[in-house]
Amino acid sequence: MPPRNLLDLDDLSAEELVALLDRAEAFHRDPSPRRALAGIPVVNLFFEPSTRTQTSFAIAEHRLGAEVVTIDPRESSMVKGESIADTAITLSAMGVGTVVVRHGESGFPYALARSFPGHVVNAGDGTHAHPTQALLDVMTLRQEFGRIAGLRVAIVGDVAHSRVARSNILGLRALGAEIVLVGPRTLLPDAMAQEGVRVERDLDEVLPTVNAVMLLRIQRERLDSALVPSVAAYAAQYQLNARRLERLRDGAVVMHPGPYNRGVELTDDVLAFSGCRYVNQVANGVFARMAVLEALCA
Ligand code: CP
Repeated sequence: MPPRNLLDLDDLSAEELVALLDRAEAFHRDPSPRRALAGIPVVNLFFEPSTRTQTSFAIAEHRLGAEVVTIDPRESSMVKGESIADTAITLSAMGVGTVVVRHGESGFPYALARSFPGHVVNAGDGTHAHPTQALLDVMTLRQEFGRIAGLRVAIVGDVAHSRVARSNILGLRALGAEIVLVGPRTLLPDAMAQEGVRVERDLDEVLPTVNAVMLLRIQRERLDSALVPSVAAYAAQYQLNARRLERLRDGAVVMHPGPYNRGVELTDDVLAFSGCRYVNQVANGVFARMAVLEALCA
């Protein structure tokens, strides 16, 4: 019995996670249109900007035969004060079976799920979770290495404010990877260390020891604040660039959830690097999201 919603990857057992990855791979091998969601209205409700997640959910929904509805919250009755609970009742009354939601507030999809009798898929909530991003990231790593167990993965940058990092930690740990978080204390508290998750400060020392490096976006609003004094100060310690690529072991890959900031957390050399898997991640987003929607809704 699959869970009703996907709010974070800890909604899934390791077996359910592997089943989703296997299904996503099947869609990757054969991306032809399906009818699993035929006649099911699916609403995409994005309160925050998105290119990758919103577009790939829409493609996935169309490819599964769903009736795809996009609501711009700024044009909805929520601006007239209608609550999310009342919006959920209203959408359900129209036969909407699934809502894919992104919101800047951590926990918002959980509140929606309490009022909505259909399925809720979290497309990113505040600094909390981004489960389908983590799923496509794990899928990309498994394609590369044929396994997750035993891999050592560095997650670099603004870990404290990263929903991508949080969900990846859940997914990668569940499947047996070792995680090394790397960043300055202002963006990565020591307290984020836990079983299977180390905290390190020196990226140069970590790079030769890992199979994969996941870079995180440095949010520009954090620059020139107490958290990150300047691009130059951040780059000196944590930017992946041509010199640091040389420190990677053979076969190591570099990933980024996007959108990336050229010249901040990475340079153009990283995007041109043969081990850069950013494009694979984006492509896998469609298949991973097809697998989630099919598992929840079909
Ligand atoms: N990775 C990611 O969530 O990108 P978008 O904000 O463009 O959806």
